[in-house]
Amino acid sequence: MLKIYLFNIFALVSLFSCQSGQQDAAPLSTGGGDRFDNYTDWAIYRGDKKANQFSEMAQIHAANVHKLEKAWEYHTGDPNGPSMYSNPIIIEGLMYFTTPKLDAVAIDAKTGEEVWVFDATRYNEGQKIFRGRNRGVTYWEGEEGQRIFHFVNNRVYALDAKTGALITSFGKDGFIDLREHLPVESATASIEVTTPGIVYKNFLIVTSRVPEEYNSTPGDVRAFDAVTGEFKWIFHTVPQEGEFGHDTWEWVEGEKYGGNNPWGGFTVDEERGWVFFATGSPANDYYGGFRKGMNLFGNCVVALDATTGERKWHYQTVHHDIWDFDNPPAPILVTLTDGKEKRDAVVQLTKMGFTFVLDRDTGKPVFPVVEMPVPPSTVPGEEAWPTQPFPVKPPPLVRISLHEADLTRVTPESYESALEQFKKHGTGFIYTPPSLQGTITTPSHQGGVEWGGAAFNPYLNVLYVNANEAPSINTLHHFYDTDPNAEASPVQKGLLVYQKNCTTCHGAEREGTSPAFPALTHLNMEEKEIRELLRNGRGIMPAFGQLTYQEVNHLVAYLKADPKDIEKVTNTGTVERYSISNPFFTDQYGAPAISPPWGTLNAVDLIGGDILWKVPLGEYPELAAMGIKDTGAKNFGGPVTTPGGLVFIAGTPDEKIRAFSSHTGEVLWEYKLPAGGYATPSIYMIDGKQYVVIAAGGGGKNATPYGDSIIAFALPDDEEDGLSQKKGEWMELFDGETLDGWVHLNGSHRYTVEKGAIVARTVKGSENSFLCTKEEFGDFEMELEVMIDSVTNSGIQIRSQVKPLTHGEGHHNRAGRVYGPQVEMQRNHRPGTPTTGLIYGEALGTGWLSSEEKIQNGHHFLHNDGWNHMRILAEGPRIQTWVNGHKVEDLTNEEVYRTHPKGFIGLQAHGMEDGREYIMRYRNMRIKPL
Ligand code: HEC
Repeated sequence: MLKIYLFNIFALVSLFSCQSGQQDAAPLSTGGGDRFDNYTDWAIYRGDKKANQFSEMAQIHAANVHKLEKAWEYHTGDPNGPSMYSNPIIIEGLMYFTTPKLDAVAIDAKTGEEVWVFDATRYNEGQKIFRGRNRGVTYWEGEEGQRIFHFVNNRVYALDAKTGALITSFGKDGFIDLREHLPVESATASIEVTTPGIVYKNFLIVTSRVPEEYNSTPGDVRAFDAVTGEFKWIFHTVPQEGEFGHDTWEWVEGEKYGGNNPWGGFTVDEERGWVFFATGSPANDYYGGFRKGMNLFGNCVVALDATTGERKWHYQTVHHDIWDFDNPPAPILVTLTDGKEKRDAVVQLTKMGFTFVLDRDTGKPVFPVVEMPVPPSTVPGEEAWPTQPFPVKPPPLVRISLHEADLTRVTPESYESALEQFKKHGTGFIYTPPSLQGTITTPSHQGGVEWGGAAFNPYLNVLYVNANEAPSINTLHHFYDTDPNAEASPVQKGLLVYQKNCTTCHGAEREGTSPAFPALTHLNMEEKEIRELLRNGRGIMPAFGQLTYQEVNHLVAYLKADPKDIEKVTNTGTVERYSISNPFFTDQYGAPAISPPWGTLNAVDLIGGDILWKVPLGEYPELAAMGIKDTGAKNFGGPVTTPGGLVFIAGTPDEKIRAFSSHTGEVLWEYKLPAGGYATPSIYMIDGKQYVVIAAGGGGKNATPYGDSIIAFALPDDEEDGLSQKKGEWMELFDGETLDGWVHLNGSHRYTVEKGAIVARTVKGSENSFLCTKEEFGDFEMELEVMIDSVTNSGIQIRSQVKPLTHGEGHHNRAGRVYGPQVEMQRNHRPGTPTTGLIYGEALGTGWLSSEEKIQNGHHFLHNDGWNHMRILAEGPRIQTWVNGHKVEDLTNEEVYRTHPKGFIGLQAHGMEDGREYIMRYRNMRIKPL
């Protein structure tokens, strides 16, 4: 039995209750959460506690985003490394973010004027300057006031949100030292925080970044009291004796175990009271001969009780990781709505480009996952795990194996250089282990998916994910860990320290890894500077606090020795180890040596598990200048989406921020930032104006020139009438071949061009969709031909706008809903009575504008199974329509005209629950502005 979304045509809806642009934000209830955990504020890293990167605002939408312009720009005054990764949060008119020097800053979110700066170096131990990656701050409020938690290297500072003053009653004189409360001696702990913690009630839950080589620090998760700073609980991600998971390791006496850190932060399910995180690999990243086993909780999605730290469930995405296949972003908590059924799920994005969709309660996969046999390791002492989990759906976001046919052909020279390297090294399906000869691995340790996460539209069930396709050549290098008493020169001993700690980034021969990790072959640094660098870290380089004074002495001796004079350590030792070098597999331009795309933006339907569209994201300016365009490029930083039909994302080396159509992936707007925007944008509204803001700090792993901007965008204030067309001249609205000039808003029905007509096809469960002109019209005459399906109604929206904010229940009232007068198109209002040509105001809140008599009686001017000619004349408050030359409607309505004197034209496809496709066709569309 066919079901149609019912619209109650005679229900008396309060007339004109909603005026455009004047509604107040109506935060959605989140079931006992804090007041900022919703879709209308951006008070939490990644938008809300579920990390949906979604904003329920649509003042900026697909049809007007081309007008977006810079509203203001703030300069930190520090255009230096490593980059600005901060996702600004906005609370009560103030915007908070961090700088590369790890200052916390508050500015006026409307003007960009500075309000306060917290200079951490005034408080740091020894007043040291730390430079580091930092993705932002955490807000907390309670009886004790409003606080900003600011994460500086191994400390958490508590600041007064309004003044930036240190709250000295918190922790020890205003801070917590994260080297404490770990199961290792605090002096040897090497830990820094790069992603802000999260708050659940009064629990401040904190993560860490730790070294990924030998002798790392465990990446345990801890909670502290947000009021006092008191330690509350710890979850050992490297399980201790007697704890669950301890028996998934073969422990070796004398080894130090670390890693398994959820460096990408947390999400919180307020209703369940659970905190979610996803861990990176165990250390050492690429050699696991001394840590055989599955290595829980490495590479796991974990759910804990947020008040006790007790484990609810875990799901391992890689067993015994030897590829550095971290789970970069914290799990995304989504609610999927298939018709009327709702299901809470958890989405884990991975460096492999796999998307794991797990049940929120149990951690069990929602789509099937297969444990597939994978190749064994050829490296002595290593035991690669024999199987790995492969999600059957959604499909991988990137290529997961490499063949000669995949090599780049952007130029003949590129191909030659790629082929030469390809022949030298092994390669294979994903999970082919690193080898002594070198294995080309795709994707690599820079993804697949990185820390930017993804944006989820809960009304479309679609996830927007950016991904990289950049293979690396993973080579292990054998060395012996000498016994400390053995005869060896300081240079030899230093080489060992280097091999254990430094090759991941600086290469086996100190050659560096382009473009972000410098070569150390011609170092021009004083011993004191090197020492200081190792103690504090700098930029992307972590601190190496775990190295002893002696070890640093030796390291310095090695680093200062002439490369020619470095003798390899002879086989005096007993403990065999391997160090990694993992340069990217690139051509002579530094671009990935596989065929494009090298970076993509993807739309993934989480109900069907399909990729809806995939488009290249960005390009390399040097190649674009040679005509090699739209290749996609390595990208860092996440997308955000809105019901205005938009996905905003930067992240690429061309230094642009773009707005993509969330329905088609078409680029609708782009803006060249003052520097690369390797960060996730935020979206907010102040005084009725919507802003999109992003940090543009350059640098980062794309290593483009540095910048120091926080830059906000908004629509220009309304021009006189804003209409640019020539009056009295016909213009074509449709070129007969493409959808140029049109954009898609609202539901997920599909629009294509076929045989010279625009075709709209319904999709099961979708709400109404609208294909809209980017141009607006005031008074006009319009002609078109339409073909109407037998069942559902459709319409032509005229002088339409988009609801900027949600202001009530139901999809008619939601942000992003197209609304204006609609010229109705229906064959069978009652059997055989067309309402085509009558006027309706569904989302205006009016129901029918045409008289009941006309609706009941219909007319006889429509050809059911053929093309129908329609004419619409909108002059001031008077709207007239004709069907096949016969006048159907002549309506004057002052009130509608007052709120909708102009706007775009939209072709509606009506919502259908039925699985069958219904089809509407439109062609020969032209309009004459009057
Ligand atoms: C995770 C990657 C990583 C690891 C591991 C790492 N480094 Fe670095 N290192 C970097 C980056 C990135 C820079 C550039 C930092 C900047 O200037 O922003 C750097 C810079 C340096 C420099 C300064 C180079 C210059 O010309 O200014 C030295 C010296 C150095 N590293 C030594 C080491 C040593 C010794 C180790 C091992 C104990 C090590 N690094 C481990 C990433 C790393």
